[in-house]
Amino acid sequence: MIRRPVVIAGARPNFPKVAPLMRALAGEGVPARLVHTGQHYDAAMSASFFECLDIPEPAANLGVGSGSHATQTAAVMVAIETWLESADADALLVVGDVNSTVACALVAAKAGIPVGHVEAGLRSFDRSMPEEINRVMVDALATWLFTPSADGDENLRAEGVEPERIHLVGNVMVDSLYYALPEARRRSTVADLGLTREGFGLVTLHRPALVDHPDRLADVARTLSEIGKRLPLVFPVHPRTRQMLQRCDIPLDPRRVQIVEPLGYLDFLALEEAAALVLTDSGGVQEETSVLGVPCLTLRDNTERPVTVTRGTNRLVGFDRGTIVSAAHAALARGRRPADIPLWDGQACQRIAQVLTRGAPAPQFVPPALAAHGSEEFRAGRARIPSRPGEE
Ligand code: UD1
Ligand code: UDP
Repeated sequence: MIRRPVVIAGARPNFPKVAPLMRALAGEGVPARLVHTGQHYDAAMSASFFECLDIPEPAANLGVGSGSHATQTAAVMVAIETWLESADADALLVVGDVNSTVACALVAAKAGIPVGHVEAGLRSFDRSMPEEINRVMVDALATWLFTPSADGDENLRAEGVEPERIHLVGNVMVDSLYYALPEARRRSTVADLGLTREGFGLVTLHRPALVDHPDRLADVARTLSEIGKRLPLVFPVHPRTRQMLQRCDIPLDPRRVQIVEPLGYLDFLALEEAAALVLTDSGGVQEETSVLGVPCLTLRDNTERPVTVTRGTNRLVGFDRGTIVSAAHAALARGRRPADIPLWDGQACQRIAQVLTRGAPAPQFVPPALAAHGSEEFRAGRARIPSRPGEE
């Protein structure tokens, strides 16, 4: 049973994952301390999420900032090691697959602090992705492996992980989505950008496999301008991508593709939910669009989230212009389709907190209690979840 957990966050996709985790642990009477590594630091990439998602003030910000993989990972390791020396932590919880995740897991494991990995077991089987290396390493080190979907369990078992370390809990990103959706729906983001519901497409791109290759990025920019002839696109641009577009002087037709700064979580969710189509290479966005039922085209050759393709709305389209344009037309013709993914029900973090604080086995299947989402009870973390299949 843990009593003094520390939760780590560092980069944009970590914040929607730690927000419900902090709430759920507090709800079980074990409030966690949050440490922000400072991997992401622009207000639009970090601070804005604390406000939208009611994330408590971090106990520390390690302020590591940007750098090469080794520089950034090492800076996080040195800083978290020093911080942990006087922290008296009895568990360290990391989320996702960014450099902060692996750096903190490695330090804690060597310091004898048990590690919990939230979003364990995901595999793209593509070691050219830095995140894949991070995933494999963190899963090897963690005591508790909290998986979002059954494919994660299978991947871990295939790597020889003991079954008692694996807990299928569902998708924590979806906890935040349901928490924030009612408020996102009240926002005027769509109209403020001169758009209409289901009358536009939303774009996010930031993976090195795409944006760090100028020819590929230029070709995708032309593809977006072409899709924009039929459907206006809005593109909140990640800092990595903005730098490459500027450095390589890659044009995007402003009549067809509206470029904006990275958006706060609620504004982004408002657009994502109202979009007719999403084009992305983000992991989290593949998941969110699946839950929202919004057609999603992923500009990658693989995904570590296959369930979004088999049960959600996601389709892998690579980088080829003809393939992407025809997939966009087909997706628009097909329209929305609600996904049906077990345990992506907004209660994953409650299951994690129960495993950590009571040692209770995570339920293997819980019917989605969709009616509870957005209710005061749900937002306060008080919605009751059945602990056995079929239990009411
Ligand atoms: C990181 C994660 C990636 C995740 C993405 C989410 C790793 C290896 N990669 O990629 O898995 O999908 O975050 O967004 O951890 N920058 C700013 N302001 C910021 C942060 C970054 O301008 O607040 C710029 C810097 O020039 C930096 C570059 O963006 O060098 C890349 O940042 P970095 O954290 O290294 O990687 P991401 O591409 O953001
Ligand atoms: N997101 C956001 N504003 C944006 C783009 C994305 O709030 O302008 C959110 C999105 O809803 C999701 C998360 O950021 O919750 C995904 O992060 P990102 O795409 O940076 O990382 P990945 O999931 O690919 O690791």
